[in-house]
Amino acid sequence: MSFMNKDVLIKMEAEKKYPLEIKDVPPEEQAEVHKYLTNAKPDYIRMGSTGYFFPDGLKEICNKIYNMEVRPNDVFVVTFPKSGTTWVQELVWLIGNDLDYKTASNVQLFQRFPFLEFTMVLRSPKINKWLGERVETDPKLRPFYESFTRNSRSDATIFKAPSPRFIKSHLPFSLLPPTLLDTAKVVYVARDPRDAAVSYYHHCRMMLLHGFGGDFRAFWNLFINNKVDYTPYEAHIKEAWEKRHHPNMLFLFYEELSKDLPAAVRRVSQFLNKPVTEEQVMRLCDHLHFDNFRKNMSVNMDIFKHIGLINKDDHFIRKGKAGGWRDYFDEEMTQQAERWMKEKLGDTVQFPICKI
Ligand code: A3P
Repeated sequence: MSFMNKDVLIKMEAEKKYPLEIKDVPPEEQAEVHKYLTNAKPDYIRMGSTGYFFPDGLKEICNKIYNMEVRPNDVFVVTFPKSGTTWVQELVWLIGNDLDYKTASNVQLFQRFPFLEFTMVLRSPKINKWLGERVETDPKLRPFYESFTRNSRSDATIFKAPSPRFIKSHLPFSLLPPTLLDTAKVVYVARDPRDAAVSYYHHCRMMLLHGFGGDFRAFWNLFINNKVDYTPYEAHIKEAWEKRHHPNMLFLFYEELSKDLPAAVRRVSQFLNKPVTEEQVMRLCDHLHFDNFRKNMSVNMDIFKHIGLINKDDHFIRKGKAGGWRDYFDEEMTQQAERWMKEKLGDTVQFPICKI
């Protein structure tokens, strides 16, 4: 019998060779993005055979994530950004934790349900340097910056967290541990790319660390040309769509939550084997209702406004509509987006039709 020290085992795991390709994005292509950024201008990379677009900070943690130990009682919420992640996280967390509203209101969602690759942004040297300098003129940011430096292993905290773990990630399946779906439960949420792009555009404008200064048309062009973090959108969603029948996978649409939230709550409860009564479904729907959610300080990210990471006048929980993209696309963009969706998604993912 061999007695291998646990730390040695963990180290060996972390040192496993990363099997996916990582390529630097050529400077001319980076410049197409940088011209719209008013704050930090990170270097970018493309990951895997698909060439997913990321800030270079992901290089430092991609291997640890890929080789992390997944546990049978882990629950992951995986989405392309701005697809209703926060909404579904709160739903999943409450069902998974026997509707413990007290803890849900006392502990921030990002602590109950941490974001796996969160540190990639601050690990990007140019963003880190920019923020370090900004801290000198804006002392409100210092605690955030220092807590990041102190806990720069916040992903390591997730790796070691006690079970049951609830983990959020925007990474596509191919960059997550290959053992994930055969081991743990995953809820994937998809949203119409036009609404996701509008929401992402506002996100990148309001978040200091993104500092997007262009208009929506410029953002949409970057989005469909795969020059926005986590794109290509269609590859991300198709990877999940192919796995939708796996027993450990629940594939949800933002649009179906919008249309019939109680039905989505029941699906999650069944998926997690946590029965709920109709009365509990109704209470949870009320808790998750946009108007209440927006006011809920443990999910609405207002906490980041106080330190200046989010513009004061913006809201993370913004409009909450399916189909709101129509206000941002003129006729030409609408037709172009339709062609793009047809070409990229074809007969695969079918979004529920929603009236606004
Ligand atoms: P909009 O910007 O279109 O309003 P994520 O959590 O993945 O970042 O997604 C954010 C999007 O989900 C935002 O979309 C936000 O308003 C929406 N959202 C969050 N909570 C919601 C809720 N309770 N009801 C409807 N939409 C919600």
